[in-house]
Amino acid sequence: MATTLTPVLSAHWDEKDSWTLAAYERHGGYRGLRAALAMDPSAVITEVKDSGLRGRGGAGFPTGMKWSFLPKPDGGPRYLVVNADESEPGTCKDIPLMLANPQALIEGVIITSYAIGCHKAFIYLRGEVVHVYRRLLNAVAEAKAKGYLGDDILGSGFDLDVVVHAGAGAYICGEETALLDSLEGRRGQPRLKPPFPAVAGLYARPTVINNVESIASVPAIVTGGAEWFKSMGTERSTGFGFFSLSGHVTRPGQYEAPLGITLRELLAMAGGIRGGHQLKFWTPGGSSTPLFTEEHLDIPLDFESVGAAGSMLGTRALQIFDETTCVVRAVERWIEFYKHESCGKCTPCREGNYWMVQVLHRLERGQGTQEDLDTLLDICDNLLGRSFCALGDGAASPVTSSIKYFKDEYLRHVTEGGCPFDPAQSALFQGAHAR
Ligand SMILES: Cc1cc2nc3c(=O)[nH]c(=O)nc-3n(C[C@H](O)[C@H](O)[C@H](O)COP(=O)(O)O)c2cc1C
Ligand code: SF4
Repeated sequence: MATTLTPVLSAHWDEKDSWTLAAYERHGGYRGLRAALAMDPSAVITEVKDSGLRGRGGAGFPTGMKWSFLPKPDGGPRYLVVNADESEPGTCKDIPLMLANPQALIEGVIITSYAIGCHKAFIYLRGEVVHVYRRLLNAVAEAKAKGYLGDDILGSGFDLDVVVHAGAGAYICGEETALLDSLEGRRGQPRLKPPFPAVAGLYARPTVINNVESIASVPAIVTGGAEWFKSMGTERSTGFGFFSLSGHVTRPGQYEAPLGITLRELLAMAGGIRGGHQLKFWTPGGSSTPLFTEEHLDIPLDFESVGAAGSMLGTRALQIFDETTCVVRAVERWIEFYKHESCGKCTPCREGNYWMVQVLHRLERGQGTQEDLDTLLDICDNLLGRSFCALGDGAASPVTSSIKYFKDEYLRHVTEGGCPFDPAQSALFQGAHAR
């Protein structure tokens, strides 16, 4: 079982100039690009396929396989689009990665573009993070000045231009086809699939869309080799990744570790739950992934084990809540987010989230009924598998899982006519604050 950290992308984040090209090169940066340019593009794809790297944006689709879905070159353009929209509640890995080590992403973009035959790549960034936007623009400029971008990269004959695009800050624009619509200048709403982006993506041309962390992992795979990458993680969830611990934990932050590590092991490194408190519930991969409780502390955090236990690894956004948190309140806040971010294209999500907010609001304030729980589950039944995109599916997760594990707490809101965690009436809450 995995017990230690595996800092690769975060290895030098504590150096004061970690984000510069000089620092990146000082630690072996761009060796992967030189190695890749000496290889046939198809061999680069094979290496990434053999590594077992699975998409770090949530769904865990094998990255090398996605690249190999592009049709044969027809002389027209093909694109790489990096999904840097990062807006899921709890998910907070790509933004620090781009801030502290943007050149790993740029090198990954160049190697991937070379592998798939792309000459114009895009990084679609969440618009609110202006500081990251500036840092990426600077990173692109530095790479270009050094001959890593532009025409005839390192004398290889390969040309690549990278565009950093700032979106307007909509969660739905992280859904890959909504992202493409937004990048093309339209309102960001998901497209009907098929055709899949590999066949008709950006400007209806073959397109690969990958998460920031997926692409930033590529240089290390090319340099270290597929076997090295596979030596970490589990058999089917290979390699390392960021585990973002947030909430009621002593030392929240980014823990870069092999897939398959457990929350118990991560908490041991993070100083445990904050002083004097106990774990109540947590998300393994962001707000769209069903909640876990204390009984899941030893579930290996890999795609298969988390799925078998009834949730999803998602983006490894471990939001941790102790016993002072009202689960109904937490779920209400998440559903307010989904209601706000629903793009409105399909009825189950547009209406379902609107109504779930009303029901959760009255339940949380002690004005609900026992039947409200059935209403919530009924709405979730209409969301899951019936929404046009995964935003709607994701909204059902916190609701159904919280009712599964904390039905009694919901019912206490009904029977006590108020929130048991309300500071005005809760001895537990007052006790927590007195400590
Ligand atoms: C509502 C919604 C938001 C999403 N947001 C992101 C995001 O911010 N970043 C991301 O990489 N993937 C996001 N995804 C997943 C993407 O659609 C896509 O699966 C991913 O970018 C593929 O990259 P990967 O194979 O490298 O994981 C989102 C999906 C949905 C449904
Ligand atoms: S599920 Fe929600 S976000 Fe997705 S298409 Fe339907 S309304 Fe839009």
